[in-house]
Amino acid sequence: MIRIALTKGRIEKKAIEILGKAGYDCTELDEDKKGRKLLFKIANADIEIVLAKAADVITYVEHGVCDVGIVGADTIMEHGSNFYELLDLGFGKCRFALAGPAGGNFYDGYSHKIIASKYPNVAKNYFTSRGVDVEIVKIEGSVELAPLLGLADAIVDIVETGSTLVANGLEVYEDIADISARLIVNVASIKLKKPELDSFIGKISVTLAADVNEKE
Ligand code: PRP
Repeated sequence: MIRIALTKGRIEKKAIEILGKAGYDCTELDEDKKGRKLLFKIANADIEIVLAKAADVITYVEHGVCDVGIVGADTIMEHGSNFYELLDLGFGKCRFALAGPAGGNFYDGYSHKIIASKYPNVAKNYFTSRGVDVEIVKIEGSVELAPLLGLADAIVDIVETGSTLVANGLEVYEDIADISARLIVNVASIKLKKPELDSFIGKISVTLAADVNEKE
């Protein structure tokens, strides 16, 4: 049996579409059927799917209670890496950016800068790599509020369409990194469940390639 931890929300829908195209019967996971359930069986394969928050996907895979995880590169960058990252799934595309009030210049002046972020490690690593000393304040969501309220000079956050920034009078100052969904595998599972994982990952890879071709 393979157990897959899948990040709830934005990534979930596309991941289930790809699983379906790869031949896995995900009927139990249909939006109108799944209700509040969190653990599902694939009807035609020895596979279970767990729906979890992004950071928990990594925890479950690292602890080996799930063999595979489907999670954004943003969460991997923030929470680390005691697993194998085997595939860039190519969907869930967005980017990390440094953003702040439109028309502002972040590097102007000598004042101590404060950065708000849901991703304090990503923010810290970015500024450390540039040799810039900043203070980082962890915010749990709607980070765009922090500069509006005067808590921070800028934010390090995910930008997808950019509409949240625009709606709040903010703009991107610098791009930090591209993000997409990744397939990760537990370090023991990769040896202990090699045949099952090879078959699963092979089918997903072929389906992803066909999916990309379809769009071109
Ligand atoms: C993310 C991110 C931005 C927004 C970016 O937040 O933190 O706020 O999406 O998307 P856009 O560029 O398409 O506008 P999310 O919706 O996950 O909610 P949260 O801020 O409450 O975590």
